[in-house]
Amino acid sequence: MLQSPSPMTRSPLPPHVLLFPLPLQGPVNSMLKLAELLCLADLHITFVVTDYINSRLQRHSNFQSRFDHYPNFQIKTVSDGLPEDHPRGDRFIELFDSLRRKTKPLFKEMLSSGCLESDSRRRVSCIVADGILGFTCDVGNELGIPVFYVRTISACCLWVFFCLPKLIEAGEIPFNGDDMDELIKSVPGMERFLRRRDLPSFCRSGNIADQNILLYRTECDEIPRAYGLILNTFEELEGPILSEIRSLCPNIYTIGPLHAHLKAKLAARGSSQPTFSNSLWEEDQTCMAWLDAQPSKSVIYVSFGSLVNITSEQYMEFWHGLVNSGQRFLWVIRPDSILNKDSGSRIPDEVSEGTKERGYIVDWAPQEEVLAHPSVGGFLTHSGWNSTLESVFEGLPMICWPYFLDQQVNSRFVGNVWNLGLDMKDTSDRNLVEKMVRDLMEVRKEEFLQRADQMAKSAKRCLVEGGSSYNSFERLVKDIESMDAPVS
Ligand code: UDX
Repeated sequence: MLQSPSPMTRSPLPPHVLLFPLPLQGPVNSMLKLAELLCLADLHITFVVTDYINSRLQRHSNFQSRFDHYPNFQIKTVSDGLPEDHPRGDRFIELFDSLRRKTKPLFKEMLSSGCLESDSRRRVSCIVADGILGFTCDVGNELGIPVFYVRTISACCLWVFFCLPKLIEAGEIPFNGDDMDELIKSVPGMERFLRRRDLPSFCRSGNIADQNILLYRTECDEIPRAYGLILNTFEELEGPILSEIRSLCPNIYTIGPLHAHLKAKLAARGSSQPTFSNSLWEEDQTCMAWLDAQPSKSVIYVSFGSLVNITSEQYMEFWHGLVNSGQRFLWVIRPDSILNKDSGSRIPDEVSEGTKERGYIVDWAPQEEVLAHPSVGGFLTHSGWNSTLESVFEGLPMICWPYFLDQQVNSRFVGNVWNLGLDMKDTSDRNLVEKMVRDLMEVRKEEFLQRADQMAKSAKRCLVEGGSSYNSFERLVKDIESMDAPVS
């Protein structure tokens, strides 16, 4: 345990925490929630984002006006080294390589130049960075600044990443044969239910030199380098898997669901501050008025997050399935997210009629508000971790259609471990979409709502005083304060 410096050497200023998220919508969203929580704990915060993310946040979110209320918060921007028109998330490995090669020296310069501190703001006491950005730990070690890693994915997927070297050693990847339902044996705690098809999609590449495998298998080496690991989850949801991770990395802070944790802390202060998601696209608020006009729990919300792209064939399968289900639907179709979209193709009358009667389509929605709306009764999601936690917290059953990264693992847990919905992995056939939507919203509605409600209650309990996430956050703040850099 770190020794607190004696009182005479302790600076009168609060600790100064620098946060560095992976510059993509999901991670930035959850780490901004963490930043605001740390602001509420009266710590000084520097939030480092890339120029690209900063310009999108400034344009499309209430981010600036919200953080203007915190004199102890500052944002610093840094180049990601890519041209303005680079698609970033769609070519993730290029983004990652550029951050490591071009952003790392800029980050070191930012920390060592003195530009972050002032008479009222001490030098950086610790760095809280996305654990995939290993270079932040390199720089922290060079400058003698302790580092906490945050992983904004699920603990269950993080544990699979930890086990990638074992999977390779056991010859479980690359796959031998094409039985995608064969059980995986080398992930402790998941032997009974994890199949080949539930592994992160890059495990299907057939090539253990795949850049994604090389990128994610470093977790075993990277994470133990940090002082502690901060996870956006809660003990009651991922307890068994958290125990597995703790065997390698004992100092874990489970402080999620972060979006709800922040809301709870603000409510406890009587603050009426809006804490909507920190969107990189314009949120279309008109869908809220449409929801107001729908019966309770009658709408299935459909969104595939900020990175998923679907083919025009998949788009039509989902559209037919949703209309044929007879259910009401609110569908987010992010601009440019439909590949090879043939705008000339004729839409069958029954599909356009059905959409007029029961559907509403937007480019981007105020998702946290939508999921909290009483008219919403289910979520057809890609199983991104923020969306999954937001749905769990609102007691909404899910249909999971995972695309890549952690989404395959998340959807297996939703459908088979937590029993909070249906796993529609590896298919988008219109008849199956129709059947699953009917099952979730009609045939098995009460069964799923009841289970989802139990998990939602458990998520709420962990955030009240004495709850697991409440206590973990208290411990995190105390540990940061105990790192109090002596007066320089
Ligand atoms: C990415 C990865 O895809 C995901 O697998 C990983 O778990 C986190 O990083 P993303 O695909 O963007 O995340 O999905 P998700 O984690 O669900 O984050 C999306 C965020 O955008 C959510 O907080 C959601 O509330 C918000 N959102 C989404 C909106 O505000 N409006 C929308 O219309 C859609």
